[in-house]
Amino acid sequence: MTGRTAVVTGGASGIGGAISRRLANDGDLVAIFDINGAAAESAAAEITQDGGKATGLAVDVTDRTAIAAALDEVRAVLGRPAILVNSAGATLASPFLDITRDSWQAALAVNLTSTFDCCQLVLPDMIDEGWGRIVNISSSSVHSGSPGLGAYVTSKSGVVGLTKVLALEFGRHGITVNSIPPGFIDTPMLRKTVDSGMVDVDAQIGKTPVGRIGRPEDVAATTAFLVSDEAGYITGQLIGVNGGRNT
Ligand SMILES: NC(=O)c1ccc[n+]([C@@H]2O[C@H](COP(=O)([O-])OP(=O)(O)OC[C@H]3O[C@@H](n4cnc5c(N)ncnc54)[C@H](O)[C@@H]3O)[C@@H](O)[C@H]2O)c1
Repeated sequence: MTGRTAVVTGGASGIGGAISRRLANDGDLVAIFDINGAAAESAAAEITQDGGKATGLAVDVTDRTAIAAALDEVRAVLGRPAILVNSAGATLASPFLDITRDSWQAALAVNLTSTFDCCQLVLPDMIDEGWGRIVNISSSSVHSGSPGLGAYVTSKSGVVGLTKVLALEFGRHGITVNSIPPGFIDTPMLRKTVDSGMVDVDAQIGKTPVGRIGRPEDVAATTAFLVSDEAGYITGQLIGVNGGRNT
């Protein structure tokens, strides 16, 4: 099944970037939503150069009105979304006692409320078509917790809860909703935490059974399967991509 319209949030970089390239490579029409509009456009241009079809749009996923407007454009240009991948996110690290109400709300907005808004705004398209695939990128920290990431882990745990509820509510419409909680994946986001001294990559590799850091393409391959027709009996699940660190 190709030629489906896919929306990938945070699709200009890292995991979302690899997912956008992979889905386009598999024949889907990809709309990249990213707060960095220039990066979204150049990611889409690269896909187009490689023979795929993509469009990049400047969208801040904390702004529901902006998401709704961008989805209208997607419907007009690429068709109704059949696939939604929520990958936009931010870490917002802080020791618990230093988390302010504003930074707490900011983490919930970018990681959790954005997922709520995107899902609510594309589900009617999927219901009408009787088919849909949603993949929410959470975090392996939902398995284990992570010191200094109270707001982040809480928001990503909310994404897991929402994933399960949506799977139950929309399964009868041919729609599956799953979450990938990635482990350490080599992206600009991870590199920032390494540079700030929060993450020691070698130490993490030592704790990882497969003995390496993850690649964005590892998450993209799992996503490609979850959005396939043949993954129709998998819904409400957490499919870890973490080299065996969490089981
Ligand atoms: N890299 C890892 O090790 C890792 C581990 C666990 C979970 N994750 C999750 O994977 C997802 C992707 O992370 P990544 O590592 O690829 O990071 P990244 O920083 O490379 O990419 C994130 C993208 O999201 C975009 N973005 C941020 N805020 C946005 C907003 N308000 N609106 C629209 N776009 C926005 C950024 O511009 C960027 O292009 C995130 O949700 C992250 O929490 C990553």
